[in-house]
Formats: sequence, C-alpha cells, structure tokens
Amino acid sequence: MRLRRFFKKVPEQLQLHRRVGRNVVLSNSSLEDFVSIGDDCFLHNVKVDSFTYLSSRVTVMNTQIGKSCSIAQGTLIGGGMHPSKIFVSTNPVFYSTEKQCTETFADKMYFEETGRCLIGNDVWIGANAVIMDNINISDGVIIGAGSIVTKDVPSYAIVVGNPARFLRYRFEKKYIDFLLDFQWWNKDIKWLKENFKDFHDIEAFYAKYGHK
Ligand SMILES: CC(C)(COP(=O)(O)OP(=O)(O)OC[C@H]1O[C@@H](n2cnc3c(N)ncnc32)[C@H](O)[C@@H]1OP(=O)(O)O)[C@@H](O)C(=O)NCCC(=O)NCCS
Repeated sequence: MRLRRFFKKVPEQLQLHRRVGRNVVLSNSSLEDFVSIGDDCFLHNVKVDSFTYLSSRVTVMNTQIGKSCSIAQGTLIGGGMHPSKIFVSTNPVFYSTEKQCTETFADKMYFEETGRCLIGNDVWIGANAVIMDNINISDGVIIGAGSIVTKDVPSYAIVVGNPARFLRYRFEKKYIDFLLDFQWWNKDIKWLKENFKDFHDIEAFYAKYGHK
C-alpha cells in the first residue's frame, strides 16, 4: 500500500515504461521505454526500441530491433549457425571454444557461429517464424506465421512460408516511398498520441501528411 503511494508520487517523466515477463533472460541487451518482453523469452546482444513488444517464448540473438514492432510467440531470430559445408562434423566441439557441451577440442574459433540481424520499424512477425542469421528485415515488413526467412526482406513486403516467399507489398509504391520518408515511428509520443486516429487509413494519412 505504502509502495503504491510512493510510486504514484513519481513524476510521469521518471517512470519506467517497460514490462519484462517471467523467466526472461536479458543478456547484454537493452530495452528502450515502452517495450514489453513476454514470458520465457531469451535475448542475447539485443537492442529493442520503443513501442516494440515481444510475445512469449521469443528467442533473439545479436539483433537490433526498431520501433513499433510486434513479434509473436515462438519466434526465433538469429539463432546461430553451424557449418554445412567442408567441415566433417557440425558439432562445435571441433571448431568452437565456446564449450557448448562443456568441452572443446578447438584451440581457437574456426567458424563464425553467429551473425547479426537487423529488424526495422513497424515490422510484424507472425507466430513461430524463424529468421536466419545475417538477415535484414526492412521497415514495415510482415512475416507470416511459421515462415522461415532465409533472405533479406525489402520495406513493406509481406513474406510467407518455408522458405519465405514474397506475397505482396502492403501498399502501392507511392505510399511506401512516402512512409519511408515520413518515418512516423520517429515522432515523439505526444504527436503519436494526438494523431493516432490518422493511422487507421493509409489514404487519409497520405492525404494529410503526404505533401508536407
Ligand atoms: C501473413 C499474413 C498477415 C497474410 O495475411 P493476408 O494478407 O490476409 O493473406 P491471405 O490470408 O489472403 O493469404 C494469401 C496467400 O498467402 C498464403 N499464406 C498466408 N499466410 C501464410 C503463412 N503464414 N504461411 C504460408 N502461407 C501463407 C495463403 O495460403 C494464401 O495463399 P494462396 O494465394 O495460394 O491461396 C497472415 O496470413 C499471417 O500469417 N498472420 C500472422 C498471424 C499470427 O501469427 N498471429 C499471432 C500473432 S499476432
């Protein structure tokens, strides 16, 4: 009760707007304000920007995630790599000093086990998607549920399936060019709050802001 009274007194600008669920590992990772991480998530070397949320059971490694992204349950981003060519075994005991199985025979790293992923702004990733290492997902992209993304995805594209194939763009080109230039995701919270209804129709949005 007393604690609640204390927090009520903390001015709005000093309050933290972050939520981290149960059984979450945040290793060398940072969260901006207005970020939510659901239960059972694992983040290693990850930066998450404002108004982005991760649902439950999301694993992300070595990735930068932009603003206003929605990442559904069970998604895996940048999960790591094993050799698929030349090496006799895929097991890291022969090429990695990380001791994944408590032991290694390698005296140094012989194979790059991780890559870096980039997730833009306003990206929606459906449930149980897998995004391979070293993939760039640009602004406005939608990734269908269960998709396996093996190639970079251009702005405002929708990709689905395994391997993920291009389905269509979310909007016609003039809207995409405008949105990429306008970058509403960089507006401050006051502007977003005041104008949220404009976001409900791309034509009206373009009519209002497209020529400024
Ligand atoms: C990607 C998505 C947004 C596409 O929605 P849409 O634009 O309404 O697409 P449609 O349902 O019209 O489907 C178009 C085609 O793509 C296929 N398709 C749609 N989603 C697919 C998916 N996730 N994987 C494979 N194929 C998919 C459809 O079968 C259809 O194929 P067809 O043209 O050969 O018949 C949606 O299907 C999806 O996957 N949403 C994610 C849902 C989710 O994960 N929710 C939980 C978190 S919020």
